[in-house]
Amino acid sequence: MSTNRRMAMNDDLIGGAVGPYELVDRLGTGGMARVYRARLPGDGQAALAIKVLPLRPTDRAAPRQRFLREAQMTARLRHPHILPVYDYGESDGKLYLVMKLVNGGTLAERIARGPLEPEEVAAILTQVAGALDYAHARGVIHRDIKPQNILFDTGGDAYLSDFGIAQPGAHTASEDTEGFTGTVAYASPEQCRGEELTPSSDLYALGVVVYEMLTGALPFQGSTPLAVMRQHLTGPVPDPRAANPALPPGVTAVLDKALAKRPSARFRSAASFSGALNRALYSHPEQPSAEGIALAASVRVPAPPSPAPDEIRFRVTRRLLAVAVLFVAIMAIVAALILTFVR
Ligand SMILES: Nc1ncnc2c1ncn2[C@@H]1O[C@H](COP(=O)(O)OP(=O)(O)OP(=O)(O)O)[C@@H](O)[C@H]1O
Ligand SMILES: [Mg+2]
Repeated sequence: MSTNRRMAMNDDLIGGAVGPYELVDRLGTGGMARVYRARLPGDGQAALAIKVLPLRPTDRAAPRQRFLREAQMTARLRHPHILPVYDYGESDGKLYLVMKLVNGGTLAERIARGPLEPEEVAAILTQVAGALDYAHARGVIHRDIKPQNILFDTGGDAYLSDFGIAQPGAHTASEDTEGFTGTVAYASPEQCRGEELTPSSDLYALGVVVYEMLTGALPFQGSTPLAVMRQHLTGPVPDPRAANPALPPGVTAVLDKALAKRPSARFRSAASFSGALNRALYSHPEQPSAEGIALAASVRVPAPPSPAPDEIRFRVTRRLLAVAVLFVAIMAIVAALILTFVR
C-alpha cells in the first residue's frame, strides 16, 4: 500500500466537515497543509478542492497570516490560468481555502515521467506566462513558482496555484518571519542572497521550470541546499542540449537569458520569454526575427558550422559528375537518332 494511501486511511478529517464543507477524500499533501476533494451538503458531486491547515494552540501567528495572505491574494486575481479561490476561513482551529478542483495532476508528476515534447512546453509556458504577467501587472509576486504549483485540468489546460508566500509589491526574504520560504531548486540568486524579490525573480523560477520541462532534469543540483544555492549564485547554466540533444540550438541562448544571474539581464516579461522560446523551437534559422538578432547579440549562440574544405571539394566534384552524366546521355540519344536515319 502506498504511503499516501495509508496516510489517507488514517486521516480523521475524511468523512467529516470543515466549515460548511464535507471532505470526501485526500488529493495531496504539501509542506504546510493537506488538500481534499470536498462538496457542500446537498451538492451531489464533490467538485471542490479544499486546502486545510490544522493549527495547534502553540502555533505562532506566522503560518496563519501566511495562509490568509494566500487566500486574499489569490481571491483578488481572476485569470483563465490562475486557479480560482472561491472561499476561505477559519473553523475549529483549522484554516481552510476552497478552490477549483482540477483532475489532470501537477506539472511535477508530468515531469517525473520524462521530458515533455517542445509543443507541450510551448503551450504550457504560454498559459503560465499570461497568468504571471497578469499577477505582476497587479503588483503581486508569486515567490513560489515550481512544478508542484502548476496544475492541469483534464483538458490539459494549466493553472498557476498557491500564491502562498506571495506579497504585494517588493519584499525581502530576510523580512519573512519564517526565513527562507521558497523552494531552493527554483530560487533566484537574489533570493539565495536574501535580497529584495521582484517579478524578475518569478521569471528566473519559471526559467528553471522550463529547463526542467525540456530536459527532465534541474539545471542546478547538489547534495545540500547550500550547494544548490552556490550553483544559482555562480554556476554556469548547463547546456540543455547535453541532456536533450533533440533540442534546437537556439534554446540554449533562451535559457541562458532566462537564468541570467543579474535580474536586469533576464527577459522583461514572461510573454517575451515565451515568445523567444517559441521562436527558438520553431522559427527557421535562415530568417531570424529582429528580437532573435537582439537576443543573439546579448547571449552566446554557437556560430553555424562553415563547410570544411573537404566538404567544398566534394560538392564541386558532385556537380561536375552530374554535368558529365548529362553530356553522355545527350550523346547517346544523338547517336541513336543518327543510326536510325542512316538505316
Ligand atoms: N485545486 C486542486 N485540485 C486538485 N488537486 C490539488 C489542488 N490543489 C492541490 N492539489 C494536490 O494537492 C497537493 C498538495 O498541494 P499543496 O499546495 O498543499 O502542496 P505543494 O504545492 O506540493 O507544496 P507547498 O506546501 O510547498 O505549496 C498538490 O501537489 C496536488 O497534487
Ligand atoms: Mg502547492
